[in-house]
Amino acid sequence: MQVPLLDLKLQYAPLKRQMLAEIEAVADSQTLILGPKTEQLEKAVAEYCGAGHAIGVSSGTDAQLVLLMALGIGPGDKVLTTPYTFFATASCIARLGATPVFVDIDPATYNIDPAKLAEALNQTTNDKAIIPVHLYGQCADMAAIVELGQTHGVPVLEDAAQALGAQHPLGGAGAIGEAGWFSFYPTKNLGAFGDAGMVVCRDAALAAKIKALRNHGMETRYYHQWIGGNFRIDAIQSAVLGVKLPHLDAWSAGRRARAAYYRAAFARHELPVTLPAEVFADRGLPNHHIYNQWILRAPRRDELRAHLAKASIGSEIYYPLALHQQECFRYLGYREGDFPESERAARETLALPIFPELTEEQQDYVVAQIAAFYR
Ligand SMILES: Cc1ncc(COP(=O)(O)O)c(C=O)c1O
Repeated sequence: MQVPLLDLKLQYAPLKRQMLAEIEAVADSQTLILGPKTEQLEKAVAEYCGAGHAIGVSSGTDAQLVLLMALGIGPGDKVLTTPYTFFATASCIARLGATPVFVDIDPATYNIDPAKLAEALNQTTNDKAIIPVHLYGQCADMAAIVELGQTHGVPVLEDAAQALGAQHPLGGAGAIGEAGWFSFYPTKNLGAFGDAGMVVCRDAALAAKIKALRNHGMETRYYHQWIGGNFRIDAIQSAVLGVKLPHLDAWSAGRRARAAYYRAAFARHELPVTLPAEVFADRGLPNHHIYNQWILRAPRRDELRAHLAKASIGSEIYYPLALHQQECFRYLGYREGDFPESERAARETLALPIFPELTEEQQDYVVAQIAAFYR
């Protein structure tokens, strides 16, 4: 049996006609960048996640970059975030000349640990933002983080790249803090036909500035109020995403059902593995975890991964190094051991196949292969 980590063709097949019709409409209109399809998508995403404003951009990375630019974050500024995340979360801070200040994670959720964040906020000065990441599709502990932000007067910006639709008791991922962003990279729960992303925020003036900055800092053509960039989203991406968005809740439900099936299947074996924690499961929110990834913590992780590969089961490591261990961030002066939980997660975690079309037979096979490995 073959079990891919993700099979996008299965999602595409039933929507193919509708998507191609939308792409054809964009082609016929020859309005290829921004335009009405983007405006429709921005409105729909803002409504969906409960944000005041949404601005479509060229990627999740550019969404973060243009937001930090709009907030004027630059040299001398510090931005607190987790070292256990995708590279872009920290690189966007560094690219603007600001300094990423890493804070270790809660080992149960893999998200930034608010107690350690409190310590860091007491120790540093010139803090300009706190960036929690809603890793794997479950929100960070936003109640504690927002409170810390308010106490210290530091805005909370959410990296919700993996979490469009995830719900927290305080609101939708991305729309809880001052601003947030999403990635529509094809493997995300809502994926485009290429790169795309979106910034969301509360404040109308900030939204207007981001809109200008995504288009070289101009509000009136060829009059540049700010130094921005080309962070525009293509109309084709907006059109494709507009077709897919109405299906997102059903897809999230499908992922959650498969997560529950894994949980039940693993419960039938005594294995030395740790399953994902669902920390908001008892709050009555259907999308408390949208499982962009389903993560196992596993001893002998690399050997297990090789065993699964031999059995034609896809898996992935998100992420093999914590960011303070990356060569390009050596200049920050961190050492091995500074963030033990992030380092341990980088050594122990493995993403298993999860997508709405995954079958029970495939899941049984994955669990049986893992059980066989530890036997
Ligand atoms: C946590 C996180 N932040 C940021 C990004 C960057 O998004 P993109 O790949 O759309 O630039 C990603 C996506 O890979 C991500 O997973």
